[in-house]
Amino acid sequence: MGRFDDLSARDRVMVALDCGPEEARALADKLEGHATWLKVGITLIYDGGLPLVKELRDRGFKIFVDSKFHDIPHQVRGAVMSAAHSGADLVTVHGSGSEKMLVACHEAAEQSLVEFGHKPYVIAITVLTSMDAEELAKVGVTRPIPEQAAALAKLAVDSGLDGIVCSPMEAREMRELLGPDALIVTPGVRPAGAALGDQSRVATPAAAVNAGASHIVVGRPITQTEDPVAAFEAIVAEIEAR
Ligand code: C5P
Repeated sequence: MGRFDDLSARDRVMVALDCGPEEARALADKLEGHATWLKVGITLIYDGGLPLVKELRDRGFKIFVDSKFHDIPHQVRGAVMSAAHSGADLVTVHGSGSEKMLVACHEAAEQSLVEFGHKPYVIAITVLTSMDAEELAKVGVTRPIPEQAAALAKLAVDSGLDGIVCSPMEAREMRELLGPDALIVTPGVRPAGAALGDQSRVATPAAAVNAGASHIVVGRPITQTEDPVAAFEAIVAEIEAR
């Protein structure tokens, strides 16, 4: 039995707010009382984002800060603490940032609990889906992408991190590799019939969770519809019915 097995469908869906602060607030107004998690990315973080994280958290949301940290261990330790201080419940770091950096992130999360009474989950990005074998080779990575992703995922969890971000297509093998307690977050999720946008390899919400995702990230199929609440609730119902 894994630590996320009992999670309700509602608590598994993370709504990506890929927009400016005003639109983010408007979406939060609508989704309050429905969504548990909101995801803010670096575009929003660097546009007044951390006070907004605090504001949204005070309204009762859990906040996924998709920070994608990658720096020297000392700097990343401080960054995880700063995000935690703003109320981030989940932060991301690049798994390729070294074992020492990953351990520093884990220690920073523990330290946040002591200093702020609040410990964020820290999860790793393995290989960005925007990278292909050719791009990876240019930065010196020549092993096949699945091997690189698996190695970084294992390194992250062995360094004390809570889990990883991966494609729903990789969720099953990552669940087998990392065990039942890992937090596995999958973007690239589309309800049946929804527009793909710029996503190509997608899975439905139910398929992603069945494959081993503990949480799914869904943006435009919720945020760019006439009725974001109805779209969100339809996804929750689909996961419940799986
Ligand atoms: O609108 P959509 O559902 O495609 O949004 C997906 C979210 O997940 C975006 O915030 C995007 O940056 C993020 N993401 C992704 N693919 C990855 C990693 C993150 O779509 N490989």
